[in-house]
Amino acid sequence: MTWIDSRGQTPGSLPEELASALTLARERLGVFAHRILWYPEVGSTNDVANTFAERDAGEGLVVIADRQTSGRGRMGRSWASPAGAGIYVSVVLRPSPDVARLLTIAAGVSVADGIASSTGLSTHVKWPNDVYVGGRKLAGILAEGAMRHVVLGIGINVQPAAYPPDVAARATSIEAELGKPVDRGLVLSECLVALAARYQELVQGGARLVIDAWRARAAPMLNRRVEWESGGERQSGLAENIDDDGALIVKGAAGTLRIRSGEVRWL
Ligand code: BTN
Repeated sequence: MTWIDSRGQTPGSLPEELASALTLARERLGVFAHRILWYPEVGSTNDVANTFAERDAGEGLVVIADRQTSGRGRMGRSWASPAGAGIYVSVVLRPSPDVARLLTIAAGVSVADGIASSTGLSTHVKWPNDVYVGGRKLAGILAEGAMRHVVLGIGINVQPAAYPPDVAARATSIEAELGKPVDRGLVLSECLVALAARYQELVQGGARLVIDAWRARAAPMLNRRVEWESGGERQSGLAENIDDDGALIVKGAAGTLRIRSGEVRWL
């Protein structure tokens, strides 16, 4: 396998800041211990990871970039990815359908846990997998699936940066919250360690543990009113829980509903 992406770019060597943390964590990186690629600049790490996954890269490939020029978010949004200010990483997994159902839920919890263990910052998750502090978003996850693989793309704001005004109003970063610098390599390695462990838990039939961990991280967002669009109409209800498939359970005027995908706004 040659690691030249579809734009002809070759990976560089991992910067020392990331290399030392990842080396120290090697024994705990599980499925992610084998191949880690770093690029100074890519369009989107999800695209690079997907290109290699289509070429049969093994499960657990990790693609990291210092900067993305076309970083993507959920619901067709862009993801501001200035150089050095965040963590932009995508991983390739090849889950069974059973494991795939809860993968994005597991990813949100893992990122929240990895941030807590590396920096002490306590965050919560907003369904399905946004990571928040107070009312501001700190990290997001974009899962893109193909027939035989899933690419999980994780974006974490580490330092305050010159985000576009609409993003700046709703976003925060680890360093802005803590008021001190943090070790970006440690944040990355602890998030990957946490994700490897949660993935293993799902593979071994531990869906219940993942759902319970998600509920604990989502507690501040549960039993609150939310609104969403369905069939062109705005609806509202009380977000109660997630079910065994990771769908959001909402109690509305017409009874209890399961929201499987889409955008839900907390009121
Ligand atoms: C969201 O909208 O909350 C998801 C954001 C996901 C951003 C990450 S950054 C690494 C990976 N590459 C992308 O283009 N997007 C994801």
